Amino acid sequence: MDILKVFLYTFLFVFVAWLATTVYTQFSGKGNLIELEPFTEIVGEAAVIYNPDPFSDFDEQVSIQIAKGLQSAGYKVVVVPTNEDVPDLALYDLTVLCANTYNFAPDWNVATLIKNRDWQNHRVAAVTLGAGETNLAAKQLKGMLKNAGAEIIGDAEFWLMKPNDENYNAESNRQAAKEKAYRFAIEISQTLATTL
Ligand SMILES: Cc1cc2nc3c(=O)[nH]c(=O)nc-3n(C[C@H](O)[C@H](O)[C@H](O)COP(=O)(O)O)c2cc1C
Repeated sequence: MDILKVFLYTFLFVFVAWLATTVYTQFSGKGNLIELEPFTEIVGEAAVIYNPDPFSDFDEQVSIQIAKGLQSAGYKVVVVPTNEDVPDLALYDLTVLCANTYNFAPDWNVATLIKNRDWQNHRVAAVTLGAGETNLAAKQLKGMLKNAGAEIIGDAEFWLMKPNDENYNAESNRQAAKEKAYRFAIEISQTLATTL
């Protein structure tokens, strides 16, 4: 076998393996629907949507922290993974979309949800999750939402490997993301309070 054939077969193998991993990752994760009641009088209702990753539950943990932050601000919150039926989001005062980044783009389930639902004047927070290279995906997510007519009231990126704060260490980076996600939720609740 000449060197060109070895190169070609190696390239094909890597490409097919990457494609299979991508498709598996996009569609096979499972999460549970969670409902949180506010501790005080209800000020509004929010939905937090994410596409569960099959390899780690970072997306679920961040989504739950955002839900807890909104709950503490008086919101009734439902956290819905895309393997469950996603409700009519027009019924909510706010939707938080947590998109995982796969190959520099937002995950396909969240992207499909943006294409298939009515977002006209709907208040949305756009959250992008990933190992660390989420810049392009975050831009795409916001672009898709703007084109769909949504009103983006906040956006954030959280990472598994890239430092989430200045006191980075690998063991506590997830915890830092979760704390930042909670604070982000409080911030968007304050923005909402000025617009509701
Ligand atoms: C096929 C594949 C492609 C990925 N591409 C990116 C990427 O382009 N940028 C990035 O930051 N992370 C990338 N990741 C990492 C995922 O975004 C990351 O695992 C996920 O968002 C974080 O937590 P979760 O796995 O619990 O959702 C990729 C992962 C896989 C499996």
